[in-house]
Amino acid sequence: MDGQGVYLCKTRKLPMVFEHGHEHYYVVWETSCPSNGSSLEWWVDDESNGSRHFVKAQYKMIDKSHHRYSVIIGPVGLASEVHYRAISHNKPIAQHSITRRSKDEQTRILVIADNQNGPTEFRRVLTSIQNHYDKSNSVPDAILHVGDSVQNVGKLGDWQNQLFSPLEDGGGYHHGSPIVFVPGNHDHDKSRTPNNGNFYTDMYHGILTTDGLGESAVVNGSYHRFFHIASLGSARIIVLDCECPSAEQLEFLEQELQSEAFQSARFRIVAVHIPPYIEFWDPYAWNEKGEKHWGEHVRLEYDPLFRRHNVDLVISGHQHNYQRATVQRDVQSADSGSITYAIVGGAGGDLDLVRVENWNMYNVTYLDHHFVSLEVDDQQLRWQAKDKAGRIVDQFSFFG
Ligand SMILES: [Fe+2]
Repeated sequence: MDGQGVYLCKTRKLPMVFEHGHEHYYVVWETSCPSNGSSLEWWVDDESNGSRHFVKAQYKMIDKSHHRYSVIIGPVGLASEVHYRAISHNKPIAQHSITRRSKDEQTRILVIADNQNGPTEFRRVLTSIQNHYDKSNSVPDAILHVGDSVQNVGKLGDWQNQLFSPLEDGGGYHHGSPIVFVPGNHDHDKSRTPNNGNFYTDMYHGILTTDGLGESAVVNGSYHRFFHIASLGSARIIVLDCECPSAEQLEFLEQELQSEAFQSARFRIVAVHIPPYIEFWDPYAWNEKGEKHWGEHVRLEYDPLFRRHNVDLVISGHQHNYQRATVQRDVQSADSGSITYAIVGGAGGDLDLVRVENWNMYNVTYLDHHFVSLEVDDQQLRWQAKDKAGRIVDQFSFFG
């Protein structure tokens, strides 16, 4: 309230931008009271080159003091820069720019997962992330979030305290570095209803509609189509929803793996929250509560397809520590090429420290919080995992 007893509206969440299918982005922001006529203005490259686009925002009241706006930007064509300005209460609240890299350019991807319920540690990891990018006077071109962004999708406080506020204070990269969001088990309320109880990352119910596929988000009322694809520089990333082992997702995976876009990409990546090969978990939950079978389809059903179709790298979270294995795709054949499995589940959540399985495959195990810097260009993929102090805990590179 101001001195006259008038309630002052404020921007509660500055814009967060997501990859949203081919040549599109999805932007979401929030104010503390409703703003009729919120909109977003976007343009490409410099102003003289592109016309301005004004898009009326979709409005959703979450509760009396949380008013959400969302806009889809695009198609942006071959633009190397996309600028946008979100407008609420007739005023621009912020202006941000997205840098789009070609296949020949170096593309920097920040990889994090499982910041859920650990904002203090997440903030430490974010400080290390900022130091990493500040050193080269750069910012990530994109953020790959491999799931479990909040503990409870139905709690507004979790979204603010565990995701939006730490990101804002930790460099605000989410305004201009589009997020490729991989849904985790905590990013669903499992209700299998259209909005799924998810207040801010529910755009995946319609993500494929901008990619020309145009099918509904919910099939037979059972599963959500959270799976999608993203091209970042020379890498093609297939995103899977580990919680929904539907026939539709399997069909999508098989089609994408065999597609020209995926097979001709310099680097072929799959991102799925639950890893195919888990070694650390709560032993009671693993053995007595049957959680060893949770997400088993990723190993039994999907992994043989990853190997058969030349996937280079599988990135997961879920297990709250770091592991990386590089193995032959086909154990019987020495020239089958290698596949790397990486678990990057250490952005802040309580660590998993107890071993429950041994797959005899991991080259590196690191039991503390961390993040990964992934860089791709037209020749090489470079991976560097760093801890909260900025120390390198693992690194590798390979040519595509
Ligand atoms: Fe998880």
